[in-house]
Amino acid sequence: MYLVIGATGNVGSQVVEQLLASGRKVRVFTRDASKVAHWGNRVEVAVGDLTSPETFAKAASGVEGIFLMNGALDGEVFRQLIASAKAEGNPRVVFLSTLFAGFENSPIGRLHKDKEDVIRASGLSGRFIRAGAFMTNAFQWIGSVCAEGVVYNATGAGKVAPVAPEDLAAVAVHALTDASLTSEVFEVTGGELLTVPEQVEILAKATGKPIRSVDVPTEAAVQGMIDAGTPAPVAAAVGQSFELVREGKTAVVKDTIRQVTGRPPKTFQSWAKEHAARFA
Ligand SMILES: NC(=O)c1ccc[n+]([C@@H]2O[C@H](COP(=O)([O-])OP(=O)(O)OC[C@H]3O[C@@H](n4cnc5c(N)ncnc54)[C@H](OP(=O)(O)O)[C@@H]3O)[C@@H](O)[C@H]2O)c1
Repeated sequence: MYLVIGATGNVGSQVVEQLLASGRKVRVFTRDASKVAHWGNRVEVAVGDLTSPETFAKAASGVEGIFLMNGALDGEVFRQLIASAKAEGNPRVVFLSTLFAGFENSPIGRLHKDKEDVIRASGLSGRFIRAGAFMTNAFQWIGSVCAEGVVYNATGAGKVAPVAPEDLAAVAVHALTDASLTSEVFEVTGGELLTVPEQVEILAKATGKPIRSVDVPTEAAVQGMIDAGTPAPVAAAVGQSFELVREGKTAVVKDTIRQVTGRPPKTFQSWAKEHAARFA
């Protein structure tokens, strides 16, 4: 039995699908059971909240592996979660981390690296999926694309190699289930380096509608996040990530998806075609 945290999210939902497809038993963790009703009796449901460690401990009982995410969780609560997982058995923990965890000067990276270190210190077998920028981040553009045909870009000509959640999930499922893998850290990116204007061009072709990219300073993007309800320290941390992208620090392509799964990563073009209707 595998416990999937974030089972209703971009990556976790794909982890569930892929575990089920490989014949594994799955328990999904959610704050809202109605969000996992579509799986019916194909999964066990554990209703709980990561901020209530006792609900997590109950869900972790007797599982052989846990897919865990949510980097923003308070450090002490996270320590309790990991201690309770250990007390409930000896599951392998695959933690969705970020490429920024390998950076010295990234608050977002520190937030994830600290969690990785809690898992390392626990003595549990931990595997860390250090993900590059998700393709699904483009969903954040839906509002301005639909309203104005515009994507506001705070990362200038900086490049990332966007990765599809299903590819991240595929690596995570291998990390959960394949004892022969020896790596502890899996750095996972998509296969092609793209600026935001290049992603926007691909999206415009996929949707068949004109979309422009408009450069904005990082400060404006940070203020926009705060106005939309993001806590100021989180918005500031994300803003610092934008700066790292702008400075070219994230212009890296890793071959992990092909090495672990034997398949090439999904292209942004394919992803954009699959999801074009949402930008209409
Ligand atoms: N976006 C990127 O470019 C990027 C890059 C590297 C790493 N990451 C990591 O990926 C994470 C986002 O992954 P995602 O896009 O797959 O997630 P997502 O689609 O944003 O979904 C969030 C998930 O977290 C669950 N969740 C949130 N708070 C919870 C709580 N208190 N208790 C229990 N469950 C909770 C939600 O479950 P319910 O609502 O069902 O309870 C939901 O399934 C980030 O937080 C970051 O750590 C992101």
